[in-house]
Amino acid sequence: THAPVVDVLKGKYAVGEQVTVKGWVRTRRDSKAGLSFVALHDGSCFDPVQVIALNSLSNYQDVQRLTAGCAIAVVGSVKESQGQGQALEIEASTIDVVGWVENPDTYPMAAKRHSIEFLREYAHLRPRTNVIGAVTRVRNCLSQAIHRFFHERGYYWISTPILTASDTEGAGEMFRVSTLDMMNIPRTDKGDVDYSQDFFGKETYLTVSGQLNVETYCNAMSKVYTFGPTFRAENSNTSRHLAEFWMIEPEVAFADLADVAQLAEDMLKYVCKAVLEERADDMAFFAQRINKDVINRLEKLVKSDFVRMDYTDAIEILKASGKQFEFPVDWGVDLSSEHERYLAEEHVGAPIIMQNYPKDIKAFYMRLNDDGKTVAAMDILAPGIGEIIGGSQREERLDVFDERLEKMGLDKEDYSWYRDLRRYGTVPHAGFGLGFERLVAYVTGMQNVRDVIPFPRTPGNASF
Ligand code: 4AD
Ligand code: MG
Repeated sequence: THAPVVDVLKGKYAVGEQVTVKGWVRTRRDSKAGLSFVALHDGSCFDPVQVIALNSLSNYQDVQRLTAGCAIAVVGSVKESQGQGQALEIEASTIDVVGWVENPDTYPMAAKRHSIEFLREYAHLRPRTNVIGAVTRVRNCLSQAIHRFFHERGYYWISTPILTASDTEGAGEMFRVSTLDMMNIPRTDKGDVDYSQDFFGKETYLTVSGQLNVETYCNAMSKVYTFGPTFRAENSNTSRHLAEFWMIEPEVAFADLADVAQLAEDMLKYVCKAVLEERADDMAFFAQRINKDVINRLEKLVKSDFVRMDYTDAIEILKASGKQFEFPVDWGVDLSSEHERYLAEEHVGAPIIMQNYPKDIKAFYMRLNDDGKTVAAMDILAPGIGEIIGGSQREERLDVFDERLEKMGLDKEDYSWYRDLRRYGTVPHAGFGLGFERLVAYVTGMQNVRDVIPFPRTPGNASF
């Protein structure tokens, strides 16, 4: 077996010990003294390992033809490095070329700085770059930390379905799933297809949120969460919207809005701390190349209490700011991303928990406050990106719920199973949804959610 590069660099092998490493060439440099330096990366950590190839190697001519992207297997001994930038390196006794790059001049990932937009066109090759490698490791660290956080607190991970009939957010942004072709029902351009025949006779969509499903398990298992892909058919071409994104949705029984606001704060602190501790190498890169503030702000987030603010107060702050916003502010409007960013970046300078929004801009399931005008909702707004979390206490009172459904013109029949939860042993409960890509973007400082998910899906873009 061969050693991951990270083990070699972290000194798991003694100086002089023989190791085998396998990976891809990032760079090769030949010295006048008749030896070559090959930087080999295998994804296990940010840094490549430096391999010294002496001209006494039987295939040294091959070594001199190595270019970025070639796959090699190296057997050699661990040495203290004379050069700068690394403590340990490997002096090769053999270098086998496992896979050549057929034409180095046209290899898209040649070792130079590429724009992030350029890399997006090579979703299959960009994981070989520094930046996407670092994003991938941080993303993995965050998802492991999220599962660990909930597991340590006694939450059960519930697998909620991807195919569903429910429009959880009621925003009409569902992708339709169709078996019409299989059922030989003709499609026409005139729109007169009977969509009620979808999915073998039942109208079916891709889920926008696992919340309604996870609420059912919450009303039995008490503390649960779902973590999976969700889909939104909204035609938003922005740096924070994807048509397919991952969401973490905890749901807690016998809990109110304040309880889940605290849960969200604890979770964000826990996972940011994990990244600072476990991915210092990648974070140093982001601080150097992407956003110099990125480590400081995580350290600050971990240490300080989140600011809580009422929507109504936020409107007053925005009005008093003297700023000319593209969308005017008045009580009752939804906050746009420029409002959110002003509040988080300029007014507070840290994430904010925004609470108690007007009921008319929020989903049907949110619990009506005593004022009759607002609901027990919260969003967490982060500098640089805006909303990363949306959550609420749920309406557990059947009569109030039914009244809300009726006012919103929704059909009781469609919510019969959801209403059952309010009929049989109903309890106060609350939860939230964390947009995973927005979290990864916030933590890494990456500007666009398309660069923190392996294969971004945006309107008109689902190749690979
Ligand atoms: O605010 P949203 O729509 O809330 C829900 O779906 C609730 N059912 C969650 C719950 O209470 N269980 O979405 C939650 C989060 C947002 O705050 C945002 O971070 C992310 O999901 N999100 C998106 N991320 C990327 N692309 C999109 N198109 C997104 N839409 C929402
Ligand atoms: Mg929201």
